[in-house]
Amino acid sequence: MVNESDLSRIGVSLPENLLSKFDSIINKRGYSSRSEGIRDAIRSYITYYEWMNDVEGQRQGVITMVYDHDQRGLLEAVTEIQHENRDIIQSSIHSHLTDDRCMEVVMVRGEGAQLRTLAEHLMALKGVESVKLTTIKI
Ligand code: NI
Repeated sequence: MVNESDLSRIGVSLPENLLSKFDSIINKRGYSSRSEGIRDAIRSYITYYEWMNDVEGQRQGVITMVYDHDQRGLLEAVTEIQHENRDIIQSSIHSHLTDDRCMEVVMVRGEGAQLRTLAEHLMALKGVESVKLTTIKI
């Protein structure tokens, strides 16, 4: 159990639709409070980040990303990053999900740290909804 005095209170500004999606998930999963859900989400984020840091050595992998097609400059930025990383990108498939959302699956092969950096660059772009890197050792 966490001691009340060990807790820090923070204020976070979130887009309305992000918060309502989050609330509906924590309702379905039966969390007692929003704070509990946020603590869990932060733990998952940390676990994922730490796992990403363990991706090392020669790897074959897939980057799956979902992004907003209408975000200004995003398509160009994604293409630019892929050109810059052509030495580790084997191919990519683009799928138009809806009027404004796209999914892109990128096959990658190379040094773990390089694949991670690529995934992190894509993640940091504005309008990118999610990026997931999955790899196996080769
Ligand atoms: Ni598209």
